[in-house]
Amino acid sequence: MTSQRKLFVTTALPYANGKFHIGHIMEYIQADIWVRHQRMGGHMVQFVGADDAHGAPIMIAAEKAGQTPQQFVGEIAAGRRQYLDGFHIRFDNWHSTDSPENTELAQGIYRRLKANGLITSRTIEQFYDPVKGMFLPDRYIKGECPVCHAKDQYGDSCEVCSSVYTPTQLIEPYSTLTGARPELRSSEHYFFQLSRPEVVDFLKAWTQDGKLQSEVARKAGEWFEAGMADWDISRDAPYFGIEIPDAPGKYFYVWLDAPIGYLASLKNHFDKGQAKNHWHAPSRTEAGFEQFIADPAVEQVHFIGKDIVYFHTLFWPAMLKFSDRKTPNQVNVHGFITVSGEKMSKSRGTGIDPLKYLSLGMNPEWLRYYIAAKLNSRVEDVDFNPDDFVARVNSDLVGKYVNIASRAVKFVPGGKLVAGDRSALDAGKLVEHVQVLYETREFGKALREVMAFADAVNLRFDAAAPWKLVKEGKGEEAAKVCSECLEAFKVLTACLKPVLPALAAQAEAFLQCEPLDWGNAAKPMGAGHAVGEYKHLMQRVDMKLLDALFEVPGEPPSPQPSPASGRGSDPGGEPLAPSITIDDFTRIDLRIAKIVECKAVEGSTKLLQLTLDVGEGRHRNVFSGIASAYKPEDLVGKLTVMVANLAPRKMKFGVSEGMVLAASHADDKKSGIYILEPWPGAEPGMRVR
Ligand code: 2FM
Ligand code: ZN
Repeated sequence: MTSQRKLFVTTALPYANGKFHIGHIMEYIQADIWVRHQRMGGHMVQFVGADDAHGAPIMIAAEKAGQTPQQFVGEIAAGRRQYLDGFHIRFDNWHSTDSPENTELAQGIYRRLKANGLITSRTIEQFYDPVKGMFLPDRYIKGECPVCHAKDQYGDSCEVCSSVYTPTQLIEPYSTLTGARPELRSSEHYFFQLSRPEVVDFLKAWTQDGKLQSEVARKAGEWFEAGMADWDISRDAPYFGIEIPDAPGKYFYVWLDAPIGYLASLKNHFDKGQAKNHWHAPSRTEAGFEQFIADPAVEQVHFIGKDIVYFHTLFWPAMLKFSDRKTPNQVNVHGFITVSGEKMSKSRGTGIDPLKYLSLGMNPEWLRYYIAAKLNSRVEDVDFNPDDFVARVNSDLVGKYVNIASRAVKFVPGGKLVAGDRSALDAGKLVEHVQVLYETREFGKALREVMAFADAVNLRFDAAAPWKLVKEGKGEEAAKVCSECLEAFKVLTACLKPVLPALAAQAEAFLQCEPLDWGNAAKPMGAGHAVGEYKHLMQRVDMKLLDALFEVPGEPPSPQPSPASGRGSDPGGEPLAPSITIDDFTRIDLRIAKIVECKAVEGSTKLLQLTLDVGEGRHRNVFSGIASAYKPEDLVGKLTVMVANLAPRKMKFGVSEGMVLAASHADDKKSGIYILEPWPGAEPGMRVR
């Protein structure tokens, strides 16, 4: 064995505002395979994850759910285990960035950056929502693109013409939280001075010294050419985050404390005393963690997706370096997962719901195998194709691998192996090669090598035709060949073990061999060794399961859906909202309203101004974004449905006292907008329930 390595491995920390989607599971499977490979080599690994709990979106989502942010993220955290256990993803620890460890570490790192002269502050102007009483992150500001004049574009870039700008350049900006026109206000912000020459020099060297994938290093090079700007690391209250020391009302921007969460989870693991199995330092004290993390022999390895490379190859190493800490040794970047060629939305995931996969009784190792078979060391997207999935799992795992054991064991009387001729199959070479491929994250290549070996074993079996040998009275010869095949099955089991840990455990039980690792993988069990009784190791995948996986709730399954036919598409272009109770629903007071008056709004192409009678003896003023669909004169005198207990909202054109309901596809530009009209007999003021 090469000398024992000490590894600290992480995957990107998922935002605690949603369930895991298949993209998360893919990354965790990739890292888990790599970690299991390392452990099979006898190396020590600390493999940790955590929830990324802070930031404005989570604060706002919690508020919408009527919960504190802590309750909100707590509920999300409670749902993690079923996914991780379900897919055999074995983190040593799972923690949260909203934790005492992270607060202490983030504040400590900040203090060091400050002491090292890398923090500066200056006053900046930023949009503020006067109704909500908070500064608005760019994503909560929309308006007209200053370049192509497309409406409803986000504060940082235009989805129509791709122009990039600042929110202050938007025409007619509005807050997506309240509809109010944001005001420019000034506030003091803290900056990490990434533009300082010593920081830029360090990062240039760090990104270009060969530790990154070549395409990632190239990208970093482009960023340097564009120039490094200082990084705004502070946000004003109200904010769900970690307070900045000596700066009342200021919090760290979520991306400052998120990667520190890697360290926080590791520290939590050490403090719980659970790291001691892998590391001989005193574990219940901070010294254990700090000693480990500062140890030059420890390799820090991050697995991340291609969308967060900037943070992990510039901000994160700079934060560590200039707070006098060790920097990462590897940042392994993967592409996205697509389903039948369709891109995944980060918030909605794809047509594959990992929990549904499990609840249908689908074998988690089918997915581990399929994903591994498609992964390589480059930043390439991985496509999940249902037909390919079925074909690959059935042909490789069941048809090639499992088949060897089930066929061969029948011709080895009592399961007792006899001496055979192993020269035809070079197990040592396979094991050596496969290790290199796992190490370099060429999992697809590793599995192709393994399956080529399985093919060779099956050929050997077929050529020898042991069933004929037995008939010809040459049972001993049959036992010899089949003993060889079972020895080869053991080698294959070891080679597949990082990907298929549960199947490998079953196979080890059948073989009655010691737990397989890289040290014993190629060693023969030997003549005289008895294998156990064979029990079927893996079912074939039935295409019907894939159909069920992609079936949209409420829709009858289509008889012969083609993979590209939009399996898993959402009604009206968006997934159903999480279920609510009847009590939640009754909090919304819907009333029949008569449109007494309706006019265009000067200065807005989107809004109509409605005067509504809800039977209250007074009229209400309501702005509605339906100008693209209706002429004012068409609406006057009609009945419709409104939300009557929505808090009044101050908008640029006046206060809106409610909301008119309208239907549209998620992409309302394509579908149009349709307001609701009750059947004859309904009267203003009647409640809709
Ligand atoms: O992009 C994301 O999902 C982030 N929550 C990843 C954070 S990784 C690390 F820095 F915490
Ligand atoms: Zn534009």
